[in-house]
Amino acid sequence: MKICVMPGDGIGPEIIGQAVRVLEVLRGEGLPIELETALVGGSAIDATGTPYPDDTRRLAQAAEAILFGSVGGPKWDGVARDKRPERGLLGLRKDLELFANLRPAILYPELVNASTLKPEVVAGLDILIIRELTGDIYFGEPRGMEVRAGERVGFNTMIYSESEIRRIARVGFESARKRGHKLCSVDKMNVLECTQLWRDVVTEVAAEYPDVALSHMLVDNAAMQLVKNPKQFDVIVTGNIFGDILSDEAAMLTGSIGMLPSASLDSAGKGLYEPIHGSAPDIAGRNLANPLATILSSAMMMRYTFGRADIASRIETAVRKVLASGLRTADIAEPGTRSVGTREMGDAVIGAL
Ligand code: IPM
Ligand code: MG
Repeated sequence: MKICVMPGDGIGPEIIGQAVRVLEVLRGEGLPIELETALVGGSAIDATGTPYPDDTRRLAQAAEAILFGSVGGPKWDGVARDKRPERGLLGLRKDLELFANLRPAILYPELVNASTLKPEVVAGLDILIIRELTGDIYFGEPRGMEVRAGERVGFNTMIYSESEIRRIARVGFESARKRGHKLCSVDKMNVLECTQLWRDVVTEVAAEYPDVALSHMLVDNAAMQLVKNPKQFDVIVTGNIFGDILSDEAAMLTGSIGMLPSASLDSAGKGLYEPIHGSAPDIAGRNLANPLATILSSAMMMRYTFGRADIASRIETAVRKVLASGLRTADIAEPGTRSVGTREMGDAVIGAL
């Protein structure tokens, strides 16, 4: 199990530290885990002048899985666009063809009061957002800013090829097959040709999956339905930009973005695993961050890249036990209760494991 660890910026090193401790426990029990560490994001800019150094690319290519913390922070707000910390993450996704981004939004029963929505709306929530990650307006050309007719214009290109749509649609149908057999494809076909093609191709692929109920929804309506009645969804599949936005919304339904892991996969099972939350520079270095999303990301790694659903479940069960015992980091603590730090939360998970 060749794993490249990329702590990144902000709270990244702290939360990754706890997930690495979990991996080390598993290695101590005999799992063949090999860990390498690589620089990415702002910390890579500070050390090498670029957010995605060649050494990092090489290590990422040689690894079977990447455990990624978080990148970015106000410190690098002034750097040129093509050198921003986020470029490190975008470069990895594109280089490694990590086109399938799986973002589960699960509400743990113990945390039902953490949501800003009424408990009856969100209790039992378990949805999976599948976001296409290497195409769309994120990478489309041409892109840029220039002067036209005496004024500045900014432009990007929303573009998908049918093969790109087909391969992510298949991930959507396959995932739905393993869950509630319902897939909702989200687009904006009433305005955007690119997403009319999306709807057409997803509909074609549906013929291969007669056991999955496919529906289509416009993205503005999907944003509304996610807060109105999120439990109507099982699996959602959508493009890169809509998925970016809807997955933050879905994460917030649970009220605990510090709990949610994600996987970004290529077609052969290689993956980058990261918490959904960002680098939280305001609390960095203070032993306050919630390491559970990163620990749960290592569980997803065991399940998707290494085919060890047994170990994934063991890690997930350990996290649930710790929550059930009442332990909380500050982000998920109820007002008036005592919360523990990053490291103590890591200790508890290891204890439960
Ligand atoms: C995400 C983030 C990234 C994205 C940023 C950090 C480039 O928001 O993973 O959702 O936009 O994809
Ligand atoms: Mg995002």
